Amino acid sequence: MPSPVDLRSDTVTKPTPEMREVMTKAPVGDDVFGEDPSINALQEKAAALLGHEDALFVPSGTMANQLAIKVLTRAGDEVLLEAGSHPYNSESGGAAVFSSVQLHVLNGKRGLLEPEQIENAIRPDDIHCAPTRAVCLENTHNRGGGSIYPIETVAAVREVAKSHGLSMHLDGARLFNACAATGLKPSDYAQYFDTVSFCLSKGLGAPVGSLIAGSKPIIKEALRWRKVLGGGMRQAGILAAAGIYALDHHVERLVEDHSNAKLLAQGLSELDGIEIDPVDVETNIVIFQVTHPRLNASNVTNRLKAHGVLVLPWTSDQIRAVTHLDVNRTGVERALTAIETILKES
Ligand SMILES: Cc1ncc(COP(=O)(O)O)c(C=O)c1O
Repeated sequence: MPSPVDLRSDTVTKPTPEMREVMTKAPVGDDVFGEDPSINALQEKAAALLGHEDALFVPSGTMANQLAIKVLTRAGDEVLLEAGSHPYNSESGGAAVFSSVQLHVLNGKRGLLEPEQIENAIRPDDIHCAPTRAVCLENTHNRGGGSIYPIETVAAVREVAKSHGLSMHLDGARLFNACAATGLKPSDYAQYFDTVSFCLSKGLGAPVGSLIAGSKPIIKEALRWRKVLGGGMRQAGILAAAGIYALDHHVERLVEDHSNAKLLAQGLSELDGIEIDPVDVETNIVIFQVTHPRLNASNVTNRLKAHGVLVLPWTSDQIRAVTHLDVNRTGVERALTAIETILKES
């Protein structure tokens, strides 16, 4: 049996031989003393790409988001986010524990919020209310199916935030996917935010790591809180070198993941018992509905596994499949054939 087609997430990618080679040669030092040349180079590169003053290498996208919330708020504040956002759903309640803030969630269309929703959600200056302090947007939006924020919407949200004195954080775990799909530069989006994070260990294919960017004072504050969390990683230049390699070699190819995702969505839309509109698939995330009367997300997932195809049950009747560096067109065709076989057998 050939190796499985792993569509569970773009986090499953393994470092390529070329990336591993670069990692073995990376110059390293003690990063807690600020002396790791590879980490320093990665941080400078990330800050330049995002058009921000400074950036900090952190172990995960979760830590980047949590540091952003920490540095942009005070205990007792309120943060506005979309209901499907990562910090609200998948960061173990970290914002409550680490920053003592209240999350106020708003329902977006495919994860995307409109400026009017933000405006209407801002609390009045009233002692009964937690002061609204920050807005977090997610681009692309994972639970929204890899949806992309129109840049005009981001600019309009910034105007609302500015007029109410709110800070803005971008969870850009997949910001480079948004850029590959739109042709915009990371800095085009990043200019509207006080802090921006992106992940090296998703579509970019590095084994570990994320960055958070912002002004020098904000990143200095984030560095302190990273230390509080035990996130100083010493000779982690080996990992930073993988990140630099990923930024140099794995950004342009993201369009291949997007066309593989489209191929998958198109093929799925032609099957009886599956529902998906391929138009909704803008990047590398494909969320489809199982409508077959005798099947659901969990039994389709289990049966796909027996065919060597791995996906994630997303809800009771929805499945998520994500394309990435380690899945090619043939893999997508194998997945489609397997799903078609399961539907026919049922
Ligand atoms: C949108 C988004 N933000 C943040 C994260 C967190 O990244 P990590 O798994 O590195 O903590 C993820 C992970 O899937 C994500 O999808």
